[in-house]
Order: sequence, then structure tokens, then C-alpha cells
Amino acid sequence: MKITGKELRRKWLDFYKSKGHTDIGAVSLIGDGSTGVMFNVAGMQPLMPYLLGKPHPAGKRLCNVQGCVRTVDIDSVGDASHFTFFEMMGNWSLGDYFKKEKTAWTFELLTKVFGLDADKLCTTVFEGNASAPRDGETAALLIGLGIKPEHVFYLPKEDNWWELEGTVGTPCGPDNEWFYPIGNPENPVFPDDYVEIGNDVYMQYKKTETGYEPLANKNVDTGFGFDRMLLFLNGLSDGYKTDLFAGAIAKLEELSGKSYDGDEDARRCMRIVADHVRTTVMLIGDANGILPSNVGAGYILRRIMRRAIRYCRRLGVSADAMSEVARIFIHEVYGEAYPLLVEKEDYILEEIKKEAERFDTMLVTGMKEFEKCVQGISRKNEFMKKQDPAYRDETVVGGKQAFRLYDTFGFPLELTEELAAERGLSVDRAGFEAAFKEHQEKSRVLAKGDAKGGLESHSEQATKYHTATHLLNAALKVVLSPDCNQKGSNITDERMRFDFNFERAMTEEEIKAVENLVNEKIKEDIPVVFREMSLEEARAEHFVGVFDSKYGEVVKTYAIGDFSKEMCGGPHVERTGTLGHFKIVKEQSSSAGVRRIKAILE
Ligand code: ALA
Repeated sequence: MKITGKELRRKWLDFYKSKGHTDIGAVSLIGDGSTGVMFNVAGMQPLMPYLLGKPHPAGKRLCNVQGCVRTVDIDSVGDASHFTFFEMMGNWSLGDYFKKEKTAWTFELLTKVFGLDADKLCTTVFEGNASAPRDGETAALLIGLGIKPEHVFYLPKEDNWWELEGTVGTPCGPDNEWFYPIGNPENPVFPDDYVEIGNDVYMQYKKTETGYEPLANKNVDTGFGFDRMLLFLNGLSDGYKTDLFAGAIAKLEELSGKSYDGDEDARRCMRIVADHVRTTVMLIGDANGILPSNVGAGYILRRIMRRAIRYCRRLGVSADAMSEVARIFIHEVYGEAYPLLVEKEDYILEEIKKEAERFDTMLVTGMKEFEKCVQGISRKNEFMKKQDPAYRDETVVGGKQAFRLYDTFGFPLELTEELAAERGLSVDRAGFEAAFKEHQEKSRVLAKGDAKGGLESHSEQATKYHTATHLLNAALKVVLSPDCNQKGSNITDERMRFDFNFERAMTEEEIKAVENLVNEKIKEDIPVVFREMSLEEARAEHFVGVFDSKYGEVVKTYAIGDFSKEMCGGPHVERTGTLGHFKIVKEQSSSAGVRRIKAILE
């Protein structure tokens, strides 16, 4: 390493402190909601009010290294250069110095402190439009400092104007971007051989609904990507080879027994796990830390964490790897700059563990479910092609199916989309949203109904017997006949009674077989999955039950793997493993064509 992360951090801050700046430190990554942006996406974001004119308590010259979270490119993470968390090295003039000083300092920092070759530096400036003039002043200053005139390029607003997209009332302006050739070629050509290393924004406008208005203050807003700069100053081209990631990657290599350099798929998995764990650590360990949830910023965190869990599996390591990698980031990489991470270590690791526990097993069942969807689509395509050779293949996973993956197995929509894309499929997003809405509406209706329902209480034992009746019901259909249906049941804390239609007494072998099958399903410790849906949907999905309901009625359903699917009011245990041993104590006639089983759980 020519320069480590810790050294780069220090050099940046020391340089600007030597120019009269105060290090204001990093603030929370979580946006305060004032700009409608969920996370800090730029170092200037927390400084917005001061760039607009409010006096800053630390003065007019500020610097820091600020964490940012950007998830728009999350699908690209896995290559050499995308991250969901990164840091921005920044410095600001709040109505103090302007272009003359700033161009000189950036030039000095790059050429003197970081040793870049002035002859190779390229820069771009704003070419001007109806809102703001061409930035000839900056161009002249740059040439005066020693940048070759043919290395100063004028570019339009798309390239050389900086503003926080999708916002109004925020400061913005033309920027001066700095570029350097990557990999040190002999005669580098701009822009092909160059990468952007940072930019100085001359923030002297405010964005309005219709355009821009001049600000009273002439500010400077500088941002140089910390991760990018570190990579670049070390002559590397893989962003995961810097000392920020070395420990995490080594740990993942050790745990998986796979080689980062030698195995392309493992490399991609390691990058995704490392990046996503780093962001997870930063978001949970933040001063305004968040936790994974199903809404807002918490949902984005959940997406990131579940994606990491998926790639752990793909890499061949358990989700526990996330905690080990998290520990490395906290202790070896970021603890010094972010002491709060060390303080919150136990909490961070605990929350990572919890989310892994919540999702890891569901991921496996959900993946099977997803495979079924894909098979369904290809079976349909095959079938249709036989009927009509001109048939165009279905390439979309249905919104309802995507919602089921979300609701039952905790698959964020984006995860399903990613899985689908790997098969050349897309997902019906609008259909997903419609299913989501419908579900919310039903839950609302149901919540009202429940309030009326009163205070029915069930003991733990009775709850177990409830679930056992479902297993018994399903087992009878397998052992005796698919036409066997429940005719009634009665449950106490001591035993269950179950009536069903069947023409004759069961043989001893049949009784044994039913017992064995139920006990087998108990041993498999299958999760009992609860869902609400319309009666029509429940029927379509082959849930059984005696329901005399109106059209559109919402029913509660319980599924025990593929084994048992019943409409039922519950309650039920969460997993079959808790039931104990199932034993039939009596099989007798109840009435004409109806048999009665008495059974216990021991
Ligand atoms: N605000 C500028 C950026 O984010 C410095 O690149």
C-alpha cells in the first residue's frame, strides 16, 4: 500500500486545516427528511442551511470526511467500482474564499501532497447556458497554475453543473471537475484513459421551481471520493483491493475456502457481502441508527441485508460470516474515525444476527418457491408452443407471485427482480403493488373484525392440538383417500378429537401409517405459515376448509409446507417441531359414514 485509508483521511484534513478550515466531523448518515432524501448522498447535504446563508458555528471554512449512502446502483455492486456506502472528503467556503484560492489549493493538494503529475491532470469547466455564464474565470486560473491549456475542457450542464437531483430550494452551481489517468499509461488520452477524482462546485445559485436564482453568498463545495482516491493513489483498479476491504475479503476467503482472485463468481459474492455488510454496520451503528423493517429507510437496509444473506449462501458460507466481517470493519477499519461503531458493536452484531435468523431459513424455502414460479412459466411456454408455434414466450413473473414471495418468505421485491433477471425474466411491478394494496386493505378489514372477535384465549397445549389436527387431516388424505374431509373437531388441553368421512373402520396398519406420517412432519420442524387472502384465492391455491362465506371475504390460511393447506381461524404453533409425539388412542364410528379419532400429543 502506498497510502492507507487512515493516512489519506489525515492528509486531507491536515491540508485543509493548514488553510484555516475547521474539521466539523461527520454527521449522521440518515437524512433529516428536509430534502426528501432518505440518506446523506453528498457531503454538502448536512450543510444545506449554511450554504443558503445561515451562519455556521464553526466559521466560514469547514472540512470533514462524510459518509454517504447511495443505493440507486445497488445492482451494480459486485463489480470493481460500485459501493452503497462511501465517504466524501469535503471542504467548504461559506461566503468566504472563492475560485482563486480554491483552484490553487486543489492544485497544490493534488500535485504537492499527493504527488500527481501536473502535466497529466485534466479538468473540465462549465460552458455556460441561459441560467449561468461560461466559467472562463476558472479556466484561466487553472491554466495560470500550470495545467496545460489543452487539458481544460468546457462542457455543458449535464457534465459540469452540480445539484442535488429531485430537490427544490437547494444550493447548486457550476463545477470544476478533476481527472487523472488510471493505470499510468504513456500518452493518456482524455477522457478514455481518465477517471474523475473529485470536484469543486462553485455554489452560488439556488434551485427554484422554475430555474435558478443567485445566492447572496458565493460558496465553494468540494467533494473528493475517499474510496475512489484511495484506489487511485495506490495505482489499483479494483476498489475492493484497498486496505478498507482487505480484511473483509481475507475473512470471506478463509470462511469459504474460495479465492477472490481465482474465482469470478466468488469474487462477485465477496464484493457484495463486503460492501453490504459495511453499509449495514454504518446504518445500524449511526448516531441516528436504523434497523431493518418494511418501511422507508428500514426497508432499504433490509434489502441490503437480505441481499448480503443471499450472497453469503451463494458463496457457500453461513450468514454468520456477516458478523465476522462486521467485526473487522468496526475494529480494523472504521472504529478510529467512527468511535460510535465500537461503542455500539454488540448491538450492531446482535441486529445482524437477528435479521440473518429471520431470513436465512425463509430464503431456502422461498428460493424453492421461486423455482416453482420459473418452472411454471417454462411449462406454460412449452405447452403453448405446442398449441401455437407462433406463441411468444411469457417472460414476466406475476405480481401476485412476487407478492407471495415478499409476504410469506420475506423476499424484497428487488431480490425477486434480481433472481428473475438472472433467468432472463422480469417481474410485474404494477401487479406486485396492486397485490400489496389489496393485502393492506384486507388486513385493515380483518383488524376491525378481530376487534369484534373478543378475547378468545387458547392455551399453549390447545394451540399445539390445533396444529396437530391439520397434520392429521392431511395425513388421512394421503393414507386413506383424498376424499376424506374433516367433519368436526374438539380440542381440550389433554386431547384432540377429530371426525372425518370414511366408510369403514381403519386397519391397524392404516392407523400406524397415519401416526408415522404425522410424526414425520413434526420431526421435519416445518414452519406454519399464516396468510390472509380472499376465499377465491385460497380455493385457487388449494387450501381446504369448510367455509360458507360471501364473495370477496378474507380468510385466514395456514400452510405447513406443501403438506397441509387449510383455511382456519388459528391459532397455531410457529413450527411443527414443537408438537411432541403424536399418538392415536382410539378410532371408532361417530355416525353413519363418519369416523372419530381420539389422539394425544405426548
Ligand atoms: N457536492 C459535490 C459532490 O457531491 C461536491 O460531488
